Amino acid sequence: MIIFKKVDDIKNYISEVHKSSTNIGFVPTMGALHIGHISLINKAKKENDIVVCSIFLNPTQFNDKNDFEKYPISTPADIDLLIKANCDILFLPSVEEIYPDGEAGIKSYDFGYLDTILEGAGRPGHFKGVGQVVGRLLDIVQPDSLYLGQKDYQQCMVIKQLLVLLKINNIKVHICTTYREDDGLAMSSRNRRLTESQRSVAGVIYQCLVSIKTKQNTDSFATVKMQCEELLTEKGLLPEYIQLADAETLRILNDFEPATNMIVFIAAKIGAIRLIDNMLL
Ligand code: PAF
Repeated sequence: MIIFKKVDDIKNYISEVHKSSTNIGFVPTMGALHIGHISLINKAKKENDIVVCSIFLNPTQFNDKNDFEKYPISTPADIDLLIKANCDILFLPSVEEIYPDGEAGIKSYDFGYLDTILEGAGRPGHFKGVGQVVGRLLDIVQPDSLYLGQKDYQQCMVIKQLLVLLKINNIKVHICTTYREDDGLAMSSRNRRLTESQRSVAGVIYQCLVSIKTKQNTDSFATVKMQCEELLTEKGLLPEYIQLADAETLRILNDFEPATNMIVFIAAKIGAIRLIDNMLL
């Protein structure tokens, strides 16, 4: 695996690669890699000639300074995992490489409605930051395909919108199934911060998603939502939102609509750690 730290170096390499009509699959990450990330690398390996992974803990997408400071970092272990997965290129830039002109030079995108709901409502500025870094990374890596995890479904929609805003229509976005632990907990770098007792109850988020999916034809959304809020609270979690939406547009739904492709989202806190998950119904 070749590791690039400088924008100019990876750009030169990529421009050579593109001369030979080689397909590039790209997996952007913030590091603290787990099997979910590796599943994205594996899928990208199968579908492309070369795979680029980036590890960049993007400061502009953290509205909570504490979350940024506590975000797990395990670069040497990440590199080992990527080598084992036969990843071809790792892009490991510094903040100065990504944002050479500091705050002043950072582009800002308007995601409109998408930025006002769910994660956007609770984490102001988060998706602007995601847009800034992903826009920059795509410009550097010039991939043919982009691989993202469904756990961050709203982020996937924001990134699709970013491509529209940037008038990029030659990058295929792949939203890949969420990888789960045995008890259903969605794999996430933040899981590393859970204590043993917090970890032992965290699977309840998945149980709630499954119960909502199971009861969609028999109960109202308001009823199952209340049951889930009670269950989460009973297990010591603090539910932030449980919301139903149209999976294509993220229009929030008050009740199940059998003719609509629906998705349900949960965000809940366990102690100081905030976890999110979702399920297509
Ligand atoms: O999902 C993530 O890890 C990040 O939000 C991303 C897409 C790498 C941008 O920093």
